Amino acid sequence: MEMLRAKVPDDWLPRTLANLPAVLVDHAHLERKAATTAITLERYRDLFERVEELNAIAIEELQHFQLVLALLKRRGIPFAQPHPSPWISGLMHAMRKGMRMQVVDHLICCALIEGRSCEKFQILGRELQPLDPELAAFYASLVESEGNHYATYILMARAIDDDETSRRLDYFLDLDAELIRQPHDLPILH
Ligand SMILES: [Fe+2]
Ligand SMILES: [Fe+2]
Repeated sequence: MEMLRAKVPDDWLPRTLANLPAVLVDHAHLERKAATTAITLERYRDLFERVEELNAIAIEELQHFQLVLALLKRRGIPFAQPHPSPWISGLMHAMRKGMRMQVVDHLICCALIEGRSCEKFQILGRELQPLDPELAAFYASLVESEGNHYATYILMARAIDDDETSRRLDYFLDLDAELIRQPHDLPILH
């Protein structure tokens, strides 16, 4: 993701590798939330004409959810409670209210989550190769799809209001860069 303004912090990869089972459970929840979020976006009037596209994203995310669940089952990892992510809540709390403003902000937040997933899955696809080739291949196989979701959400926001999307993207990219640097030791992807 070229436009992101901060690198994934150096402690992210070692923390992820040290907590893989818990991170996989968190990943399952992320896919579940990505599916429900795509459907939630359908309530905005500005997106009524994009309902089929959003359904297609929701279906794809549900398929990802199923794939992660299957992986958990194969590895004997029980599905468990999600941990809230300070980075995701930080982005979501910055969303403004009011239909037109909210839909643009919501799409940008979703895009950034997809973009960061795409970036982190790429890192995992590469770094897990010598340690866990099955998991490496799994993460590599998700990169394109999450990258497409990122692009789709940005394009949806631009189609609603191009100037406002540029302004808010600028704001949210700074916020993302600030939030991603905040240290935490939770066993989560984001
Ligand atoms: Fe996904
Ligand atoms: Fe996605």
